[in-house]
Amino acid sequence: TMSGPFVPFPSENELYSKAWAKDIFKGKVVFCTGGAGTICSGQVRALVSLGADAAIVGRREGNTRNVAAEIAKVRPGAKVIGFGCDVRDADALVAVVAETVKQLGRIDFLICGAAGNFLSTVEGLSTNAFKTVMDIDLLGSFNTVKACLPELQKTKGRVIFVSATFHYTGAALQSHVAAAKAGIDALSHSLAIELGPSGITSNIIAPGAIANTEGMDRLTARTGVPEDLQKNPARLNPLGRWGTVSEVADATIFLFSDAGRYINGVSLVVDGGNWRTSNSL
Ligand code: HXC
Repeated sequence: TMSGPFVPFPSENELYSKAWAKDIFKGKVVFCTGGAGTICSGQVRALVSLGADAAIVGRREGNTRNVAAEIAKVRPGAKVIGFGCDVRDADALVAVVAETVKQLGRIDFLICGAAGNFLSTVEGLSTNAFKTVMDIDLLGSFNTVKACLPELQKTKGRVIFVSATFHYTGAALQSHVAAAKAGIDALSHSLAIELGPSGITSNIIAPGAIANTEGMDRLTARTGVPEDLQKNPARLNPLGRWGTVSEVADATIFLFSDAGRYINGVSLVVDGGNWRTSNSL
């Protein structure tokens, strides 16, 4: 087996590694779609813990407000707002951004994380099913950037798209998702070039299989994935384990921190090297 004692599994309770100094994001505001989900709420929780205020957007308003209140507890005095908004609704996003600026004053960091996915064969996909995922993931990311752009121009802001790795190789049952994520990557690369002169950077974080997330539940619910493979991820990943939410948060902190200031137009893959193997999910 490839698993070894030299790769300790990080604690589930860690928000991020011990590499970062407190207050590095003091006075900064992050706007995050998909912010009530497991991965993106982890990103926002880490940023808020390090000094930022935040607005998170999710489709289910009550749930999103609850998650926002949860995140705010991570730091005394933190302001975290939760908005119910569908990223397919460009006008609603503009209104939410205006309310964010009214309450929090500015937007420095944008995380486009809203996604709507399911596993399906191409045969099982209707035109509307394919379009729905393209609309949520790709068009929704475009709508979000468009709505936030005037604010990002004021702050010389930074954008992170939460993408994936399976479109690097192609993946069965995910043709719709892969097409949408490939589009997101192309959008980010183009923004990096077009907005760079305004001082705005655009980058991608591509998580691999992250433990205890909805995406993982959906992936491992896939018929035909042997149970021992689900229980023994060491067989799939060079580092011998799945990733954690805190490891995606660490990559996010790095890109938004001063340490990431010259990084523009990249994909930062956070997958333990998994996609380079022939075992990618
Ligand atoms: C085939 C499906 C389907 C399925 C829905 N559809 N589920 N087709 N197989 N399993 C079809 C519907 O029949 C319909 O087509 C069309 O898709 C739109 O469905 P709606 O339910 O009307 O859409 P909506 O209410 O907007 O919901 C969007 C959704 C849903 C994407 C379908 O799954 C969702 O809300 N997901 C959000 C949460 C989520 O996906 N989180 C995962 C993020 S994890 P017809 O033709 O009948 O009208 C992640 C990591 C990667 O991104 C994970 C990889 C799997």
